[in-house]
Amino acid sequence: MRPWYSVTFLLLIVPFSQAIAAGLPCKISIRKRRYNLCPLFGGGSQEQASSNVYSVMRDETTPPTHTRYHYAISLSAADGVPWDNTLPADLQCPRGTWICLTVINTRPNHPSEPERILSVVPVSKGDELDPKVKLLDEEVGGNPILQLVLHGGQYMNQKQKAVFQFSCDRSELEGTIPNYLWNWNGTHTFTWASQYACPSFIDTPDDDDKKGPGDPDPDPPENPPIDEDDGESLSHGHRTEIWMWFFLCSLFTCVVL
Ligand SMILES: *[C@@H]1O[C@H](CO)[C@@H](O)[C@H](O)[C@H]1NC(C)=O
Repeated sequence: MRPWYSVTFLLLIVPFSQAIAAGLPCKISIRKRRYNLCPLFGGGSQEQASSNVYSVMRDETTPPTHTRYHYAISLSAADGVPWDNTLPADLQCPRGTWICLTVINTRPNHPSEPERILSVVPVSKGDELDPKVKLLDEEVGGNPILQLVLHGGQYMNQKQKAVFQFSCDRSELEGTIPNYLWNWNGTHTFTWASQYACPSFIDTPDDDDKKGPGDPDPDPPENPPIDEDDGESLSHGHRTEIWMWFFLCSLFTCVVL
């Protein structure tokens, strides 16, 4: 009977799609700020979802070859990055991967040669996304950067994660895209400037609770190795302290004389 069939279908499908949608809430409240990132993630509508697969490229000249790092990023409550039926399964990320890195190598002097896929890295996967948000100390235009970390990928026994650093930029209206920042030790970092990363403020003075994806990330992403020549600069606090000692010592010298 058809009605019975439909009800079963709904019971199966509805919790499942909700679970996926719940994997990455796009409305985030944190430390009295409220963000609506839905337009960036795809908004949940099918139309937008299909158009919100972002391509982020990084090119490297690696003579005698050329290497392209291609990230496919799908943050909507869909099935992750699209599956390509024309490609063998081992040349693409598993189904359900939201962020997939493909490293492609070509030989510029041999344009007729087919490109070679060097590695396929699932960075974040829908079922183990475990999204974490926090506000960074770093500010852009008076607003702290909102960081979102998405987990779930694994490559060569190393866990992978994607880090998005959203900064409020009111001049970036529609159509902003993530920009590659760095990739190191399984952490793939992107910046994303958009008007949608501008917070509105919640005026409940004692409400320091945040509602949104998970808890603050307990392990902040490792930074890429620092250039050894980039010495640690003296902070403002240190400088004040030095001047204070200088002042006290001068005073003491005067008293003694
Ligand atoms: C690289 O990441 C792994 C976790 O996947 C961590 O255990 C390891 O300490 C990291 N290596 C460095 C050099 O930070």
